[in-house]
Amino acid sequence: MTEEIDWASLPFGYVPTDYNVRCTFRDGKWGEIEVTTSDTINIHMAATALHYGQELFEGAKAFRGKDGKIRMFRIEENARRAYDSAEGILMEPVPEELFIKMCTMAVKLNERFIPPYGSGASLYIRPFELGISPRVGVSPATEYMFVVLVTPVGPYFKGGFQNTKICIMREFDRVAPRGTGRFKVGGNYAASLRAGKMAHDGGYSAVLFLDPKEKKYLDECGPANFYAIKDGKYITPASESILPSITNMSLQQLARDMGLDVECRHITVDELDTIDEAAACGTAAVCSPIGQIDDLDTGKKYIISKDGKPGPVTTALYNKLNAIRLGEEPDVHGWNTIIE
Ligand code: PLP
Ligand code: COI
Repeated sequence: MTEEIDWASLPFGYVPTDYNVRCTFRDGKWGEIEVTTSDTINIHMAATALHYGQELFEGAKAFRGKDGKIRMFRIEENARRAYDSAEGILMEPVPEELFIKMCTMAVKLNERFIPPYGSGASLYIRPFELGISPRVGVSPATEYMFVVLVTPVGPYFKGGFQNTKICIMREFDRVAPRGTGRFKVGGNYAASLRAGKMAHDGGYSAVLFLDPKEKKYLDECGPANFYAIKDGKYITPASESILPSITNMSLQQLARDMGLDVECRHITVDELDTIDEAAACGTAAVCSPIGQIDDLDTGKKYIISKDGKPGPVTTALYNKLNAIRLGEEPDVHGWNTIIE
């Protein structure tokens, strides 16, 4: 019963909802959309998703607005990125229209799980695709299953909008220089688990990975992109191995709208000494201010926030992004899809 959910203190976790939506690609075409109440899937034990990592996923959010309307944020960008991820690991891409239709259905069918306006929580949309043909030799499947589940979530980093501490370590790479970093595929996350656990055990909320080739430049921050504010500019790494974040793209636009210059370029580790603000940004993380970055290999500590509070630019960006998604301010860039 949703009456039992304490919306304001929801963690970022899985809460069962009423329905999920599925579609299977077989004999060269996508079939009928299926609505189910089952939260398990039945696939062949030799499916390529299980053995050879043919799995991709997405993350988006839906919100209950000030006017009571439901808004999905930039879902067409998630559809596009899922298409690229599919092509990246030889999976059958889900057509954009089907992707958006199934996300819309999953949100609507689970409307009672959309957190109320003002709670700070949202409905997380997790579309994912699996290769389901049995293969023992390494080759792509010819059959695929696409599923959209939704679940109500609170903030990704504990405590919500407050400074977190992250760390740099060189012992592990999340991805290879010409690997799958720019795709949202499960294998990247498996590769990040050991580093992530070490960081959490050390009291950090995430690892700031460096570029896997030279270990000289900042890449991304656990399950989120990284940006910094420096001399009134929004700077964010340009790298082939990071996931093109839809949140980062949106914050760049909002920063430009506020009159800030935006630079997508290499950022060296040393440059952390010269920045005014830093944050991790993503669908789950929104923009989480970073107060301190410890380099575990050199022992150097970069104190970004001198007063322990989130910086003014990140605070303004966070408030602006939320206001647009909640229908409090005009959606001038056409980012929301209103679900009637
Ligand atoms: N980088 C990684 C590795 C992620 O998993 C995510 C989450 O989706 C992001 C960045 C942020 O991307 P987005 O803003 O599209 O959610
Ligand atoms: C997201 O921000 O949507 C993510 O996918 C991050 C993480 C939960 C994997």
